This record gives sequence, structure tokens and C-alpha cells, in this order.
Amino acid sequence: MTRVITYGTFDLFHEGHYRLLQRAKALGDYLIVGVTTENYDRARGKLNVVDDLMTRIENVKRSGFADEVIIEESIGQKISDVQKYKIDIFTVGSDWTGVFDYMSDYCKVVYLERTKNVSSTMLRNQNFKIQRIGIIGTGRIAGRFLMESKSVSGVSVEGAYNPRKSSAERFAQRYGIEVFETLDELYERSEIVYVASPHETHYEYVKGALEHGKHVICEKPFVLKNEQAVELFDIADRKNKILFEGIKTAYCPGFTKLMDVARSGLIGSIRYVDACFTKLEDTASRELTDVKYGGSFLELGSYCLLPVLKLMGRDCESITFDSIYGHENIDIFTKASLRFKKGLATVTCGLGVKSEGRLLIAGTKGYITAEAPWWKTTYFEVHFEDASKVEKYSDRFLGDGLRYEISDMLNQINGNSKSEFKLTRSESITMSEIMETFLKKENRI
Ligand code: CTP
Repeated sequence: MTRVITYGTFDLFHEGHYRLLQRAKALGDYLIVGVTTENYDRARGKLNVVDDLMTRIENVKRSGFADEVIIEESIGQKISDVQKYKIDIFTVGSDWTGVFDYMSDYCKVVYLERTKNVSSTMLRNQNFKIQRIGIIGTGRIAGRFLMESKSVSGVSVEGAYNPRKSSAERFAQRYGIEVFETLDELYERSEIVYVASPHETHYEYVKGALEHGKHVICEKPFVLKNEQAVELFDIADRKNKILFEGIKTAYCPGFTKLMDVARSGLIGSIRYVDACFTKLEDTASRELTDVKYGGSFLELGSYCLLPVLKLMGRDCESITFDSIYGHENIDIFTKASLRFKKGLATVTCGLGVKSEGRLLIAGTKGYITAEAPWWKTTYFEVHFEDASKVEKYSDRFLGDGLRYEISDMLNQINGNSKSEFKLTRSESITMSEIMETFLKKENRI
């Protein structure tokens, strides 16, 4: 009996898939089909897969050619599968020609000609119209966002707006996009608005975009007042639009895994979270010269508050801040101590003082550590009372990480993603409230 194996995502099952499976089956007597998991697709940068794993498996089964379906969850799995399932022939489409030649050490490798003019990518683009993005604000983060958006199929950055036209022009020229002269022009030419302007302008821009019926991704910190955050989410609901706070950490696979492990009971009940993020900034930078809206807490606090609110809840009983100040009383280092019903948390941010940026989550049975840059989580460890017992986890973090939030936004717009669990509105609202408390304590508002 000749045993054949093939692999694929099989998203939006199409004729190319059908014909590939038909010919794969004809190569032997028994066909095993490996279907990729969502995590594996995300890890290898295949964002925006529409069908969930069960639907894709169902479609492969329905073709009638697969004698057995297995799941493919990691790179390198193919070699062990070939040995485990005693495979004679490994086959994939001709778009992979050469890539799997190394498998010939274990079995015969056959590349089957790919069916022309059909692919999942093509169908995704046909079924879901390209979402055009207009950018407000043309600083460094806007440039990174634009570059990252190129990794997400289904979106296209149309142009950028900045009230300082010269800055918009420089940006547009650099990235080969258009300059929007007015906000009305931006609204007319975009379905999604990305707000990357100075913190204090977020509220007006987000409100304007939502009122004009646009989906919005707003850079962190979202807004600086609790009531503004509540109002904006209400407008989003009324307008039936999606509103995301762009804290990239929240959407990346490694951080999601970290939160899942922390909440799994492995380290018992979580009683303490300590999050630190420091980044030395040029003393002439906006962050260290803007007397009202600069400083370390406004700049970096959102990252650190994210795991704290996710793990300790939103009912913060008390919060105190302590800062070290630089030029014109701008906080170059801030430590916030928070008390919750369940336990304690500390958040440390620095722009002018460098410290070991680490995330520590302490529970009743063990603790988790993730070293800097934990906000781009790729690796974390779980430790226990028995110091010799350490569990290690890793995941990929591609590029600058903004692609994950862009792809999640797109999935929500297209109705493929069920909920906003990665960064909930109540988490964003609580963060705005904490930012407001800090600004009031500093007498800045
Ligand atoms: N395939 C094929 N002909 C096509 C499309 C895919 O023979 N027109 C084959 C691929 O070569 C692969 C298998 O079908 O062996 C599963 O491919 P998959 O990556 O799931 O499908 P694509 O349509 O190529 O997906 P995407 O556009 O997302 O890359």
C-alpha cells in the first residue's frame, strides 16, 4: 500500500485545493492531509485566514479524497509525520517546488502542478473588499504602522493627514502615499482611520472619524479621560464601527499565550504583577519636552498596565504614583503601585532612567517571568518552589508587531473574528481613567 501525505491551510476551499487532493490521492492508496492550525498560520505570518480550523478540516473531508486528516501545528513537524505515518510520497503544489527537497531523505517528493488563476488569497480579496486606511499623524509610529500594514492582505494605506502640511508631505513622499489636505478628504478615501497624532489630540480625531462612519485604530494611550473613553466606545456602538486601542502587545501571539498560561491555574491564583518598561529617549524628544503630555508614564504606562488589568481585574482599590523628574518637571521615571481585591501590582516606566524591563507574575503555586522586551513577547518561563522545575514557552513575533492588530481589526470588520477579548473596551477605559488620575495628581489637567 502506497501512503501519501500533503499539507495546506485550505482556507475558503477552492478548485485548486480539490484538484490537488484528487491528484495526491491518485499517487497512492492512502492519503493523509495535514491542515494547519490557526496558531501555526499566525506564527508563520499567514494572517487573515478566514475559515476556522474545524471548517477547513470539514472541507478537506468533504472532498472525499482524504483517508485521514491530521493537524499541522509547528514548523519541522513534516519530517516526524512522514516517519510516524510510514509515508512513501510527500506531495504539495508546484508553488513550493524545491522548498521540500530535503524531505527526499525520508520519502519520495512530488510537486503537483498548481491550478492556475485561483488561490485563497485571491478569494479573500474578492470576497472582502480592500479596506483603505487613512493615517492621522505622521511621526515614527505612523511609518512603522504603514510598513507593517504591507504584511496584511486586505488593507491598503491610501494617504496621510497632518495639520502641519510639510510634515505630511515628507511622510507621503517617503512612503509613496498621498497627502490628504483635509480631514474630509481622508474620510472620503478611507474605511479605517489610524490615529497616531499627539496623545492629547486623540479624542477629537477619533470622535470625528467615528462620527463619519469609520473604523478606528487609535495609538496608545487612547484618551486621557475616563468619560472620553466611555463616550467614544458609545459612539462606535451607535455607528456600528470597530474601535481599537493600538497596544500592539495585546494582539501578539506570544503575549496572548502568556496570558493564557498565567490564567490557566498553573501558577495558582495570581496575587502580584510587576511590569517594567524603560526606554532611554533623547532629551530633546517630544516625550521629554512636552510639559503637559510628555513623560514616561503617558508614553509607556499602557504597556505595563495591560498585563496588570488583564490579570488583576479592573476594580483597582487604590493607586499611588511616585516619580523622578527631569527638565521642567517631566517625569523621567514613574512607579505606580496598585492594590486590587486579589492582590498587588507595580508598574514602572522610564524614559530617562534605565532599568531591567521585566514582567513578573506571581501566584500561589509559582511565578512567570518574561524578560525585556516582554512587550514583544517571544519567550517566557514558569518557575515553581522546586527551582529545578522550569517550564519554557516561546512564540514568534514578526516585524514590528503592528501587523497583528491590523489583521485582528480586519478580521473583525469582515466578521471573521468573534470578539474583542485581546484588549477589551473596559480595559481601555480603565487605562484612560488611570492616565487621568496620574495627570490630575501631577496637576497637568
Ligand atoms: N494549490 C494548488 N492550486 C492552487 C492553490 C493551491 O494546487 N491554485 C495547492 C497548494 O500548492 C498546496 C495546497 O493546494 O499544496 C494547499 O494550499 P494553500 O496554501 O492552502 O492554498 P492557497 O490557495 O495557495 O492559499 P494562499 O493564497 O493563502 O497562499
